[in-house]
Parts: sequence; structure tokens; C-alpha cells
Amino acid sequence: MTRESWHTRLGFILAAVGSAVGLGNIWRFPWMTAENGGSAFLVMYLAIVLLVGVPGLLAAFVIGRRARLNPVGALYRLSSGSRSWRGVGLFAVLTAVVLLSFYSVVGGWILRYFVASFTGAYFGSPGAYFGSIDYGVPAVGFHVLFLALTALIVVGGVRGGIEKATKVMMPAIVALLVALAAWATTRPGAAAGLSFYLDFDAAYLRANFLDVLRAAAGQALFTLSLGGGTMITYASYLDDDRNLAADGSIIALLNTGVGVLAGFVVFPLLFTTAGGLTGPAKGGGPGALFVSIAGAFAQVPFGRALAVLFFGVIAFAALSSSISMLEIPVAYLIDEHDVDRRVATGTLGGLVLVTGSANALNPGLFGFVAGTLVNMMLTAGLVGSLVFVGWVLGKDAVAEMSTGAGPGVRSLGPAWLWSVRTILPLFLLGTLAVNLLALAGVSLPG
Ligand code: PHE
Repeated sequence: MTRESWHTRLGFILAAVGSAVGLGNIWRFPWMTAENGGSAFLVMYLAIVLLVGVPGLLAAFVIGRRARLNPVGALYRLSSGSRSWRGVGLFAVLTAVVLLSFYSVVGGWILRYFVASFTGAYFGSPGAYFGSIDYGVPAVGFHVLFLALTALIVVGGVRGGIEKATKVMMPAIVALLVALAAWATTRPGAAAGLSFYLDFDAAYLRANFLDVLRAAAGQALFTLSLGGGTMITYASYLDDDRNLAADGSIIALLNTGVGVLAGFVVFPLLFTTAGGLTGPAKGGGPGALFVSIAGAFAQVPFGRALAVLFFGVIAFAALSSSISMLEIPVAYLIDEHDVDRRVATGTLGGLVLVTGSANALNPGLFGFVAGTLVNMMLTAGLVGSLVFVGWVLGKDAVAEMSTGAGPGVRSLGPAWLWSVRTILPLFLLGTLAVNLLALAGVSLPG
């Protein structure tokens, strides 16, 4: 059986952007920013996307395209059959399953809000409404619905399913967010939100440096779909004519743009309609997006129609990310164990149905998985990829990144390899250590 590949030159970029742009930008980014000092977090996050995210994306692409396999097979073959590297690949597969187990719950919230927008069910009291649907049996139901939609697309395969689904949603998301941002930022009282988001707060950063660092690093990897094997898998369907460094930069730029834009919608609204981060509607936490935006729709003309459109588009964005999570273990079962795509999708869907339901029933578990656990797993996974590229592939990695690239990019090869070998893994290990200390309950110095 010949392996699938992307249908058009743009197919890969669109699918990778589709994976990157999702609830991470629109839901997790405002939540993390709100919890970590606003502007202080924003600055740290942007720096890490640029300095760690872009070279990290390139490393994942190099592994994927060189091996043309799922992460497990890729690390195993490229290391000429090392069992330990195979284990690192398996860790990425496991990470994807953990990711989907909470992502699908949030995807379920989005579907629920989509449905509720038709009647305006949450218009009266957005904060209380979110509190009434976030966890419990109905949350399980919507999680299962979201998971079923994800599985349906993945069964369709790379071209028919993933590529087609992502082509329509990107322009729609950007257009909607721009319109909402224009409205939100000009509301009376929006200035407080904008100042929280944009006025660089050096004092906060100094006092909470390590906490901001670990949250920003985790969020940077999460939003770029980095460290969980997605970008390795997507690049494995790629041909030699693509310039990997250029593609990586475009993907990071588009993705970060959408996240920053979402901030311009959520923060003004949090401060105008939800009473700030700690107000009666509790704008911070995982509900930040829902409480702020949903509250806003109650006040604008054509609020219901707009809300239906908004949550519909976000559901698309979430699906184009969740399919990229499910595709990793599915590709692994297909490549390595010769399982039929339908059987693989069904089996993994069944597994996530159970693990996701646990998250949907238990807020404490959800918060831990969606926050610290995912941060740590993605970080560890990316360290694995970087060490592999830097020390196992070495010069071959530079050759791979040069394939399809112009002289400008090629001249950066050695510097990139050096950073992939040394400074980037060390930095990430540092953030991992900070996470572990925080988990162990050690209070972090500033
Ligand atoms: N980047 C996606 C988002 O922002 C989430 C994701 C993480 C997808 C890791 C795949 C792998 O929503």
C-alpha cells in the first residue's frame, strides 16, 4: 500500500495551521494569560514561540519528512532500530491520547454553546450558565458528540478528510475575530482589559518569573501542536519540494496572530461584561472565553445569529486540531501494526471516550490534565525530538532542512543544529524542573 500524501502544495500548511489554530488560541490562551499576569505572560509567550517554537517546529518537520512515518516508526527507523527511541515515539502517541482526553471535553462545551446560541440560553447570566454545564453527565454527552465528529473525519483519511475540512475554516475564523475585536475594543470600559493585556507589567514578571515561564513555555508548545507528535506525523505526508523552515515560520506566524487577536476580543470583554478576572462572573479560569464572549453576545444586535456563527467556526477550529491529535495514534496503528484505518480510529475513539469522560466528570482532574500534565508531557516530548535531531540525525538533519530551501535558509543550518543540540533542550528541561517543583508544592521564588 503506498502511503498517502498531501494533495496540494498548500495542503500541508493548511492542515498544520488547522492543527495549530484551535482551542489553544481561543480558549487556553486567554485562560493562561488571565492567570499569569496578562501582559507579562504575553511577552514571555511571544519570545518562546519565536526562539523555541520555530526551531522546534523545524525539528519535528525534519523527523517527519525524513522518515515518512508516524513518530514511533520514525524514531525507530531513523535510529537504525533503537528500542529506546521507539519508546520516545510511543510517549508522543500517549501524549496525543492524553491531549484528546481533555480537548474533547472543551470541544463538547463549544458544541453545547453552539446549540444554546440558537435560543440564547446563556444570555441571562453567562457566568452561572457556564458553571451549570461545565462538568457532569451532560458534559460527558457533548464530549462524546465532539469525539464522534473527530473520528468521522479521521476515518476519511488525510486527503478526503483532514485537508478538505481545514480549507474553509481559516479565513472564516480570522474574519470573525477581527470583527469581534473591533467591537470589543471600542466598548466603554474596554481600556482596563486592554491595559491588563498590553501594558507590560515588569513588577508582576519579576515577582512570578518562574510561574510565568512554565505556563508560557507550555502554552507555546501547546498552541503550535509541538511535542506531541502531530507535526512529525503531518510532515510525514510531505514531499521533498517544501521549504520546511519557511513553512514552519508561516505556521507559527499565522497561529500566533490568531491567538493575539483572540486576546483583543476576550480581555476587553472580560473587563466590560464579566466584571474583570475575579468579578461575580469569575472571568478567569477555564471559563474565561465562555463567560466573556457569551456575555457579549447578549448585548449586541443580532447577538444570537452572531453567537451561532462564532461557536460554529470555533467548533471547526477545534475539530481541525482534534483530528490532528487522533491522527497520531491512528497513523501509528496503521503504519506499525497494519491495522485498518476504521478499526484503528474506532479503537482509539473508544479509549478516549472513557478517559475523556473521567475529565468531564472531575473538575480537579480536568484542571490538572489540561494545565500542568499537558505542559509537562509536551515539553518532555519536544526535548526527545530535539535531542534526536541534534545528536542522532546531526548532519543529516541539516541536509534534510536544506532540501527544498534556498541559500538563505541553508546558511542558518549549523546555528539551528547547535541550538537544537544544546540550548533549547536545556531550556525546556529547566521549565520541566520548574513544573516538577511546583507539583511537589515547593513555592517558587520570583
Ligand atoms: N494546537 C492545538 C490548539 O491550539 C492543540 C494541539 C496540541 C493539537 C498538540 C495537536 C497537538 O488548539
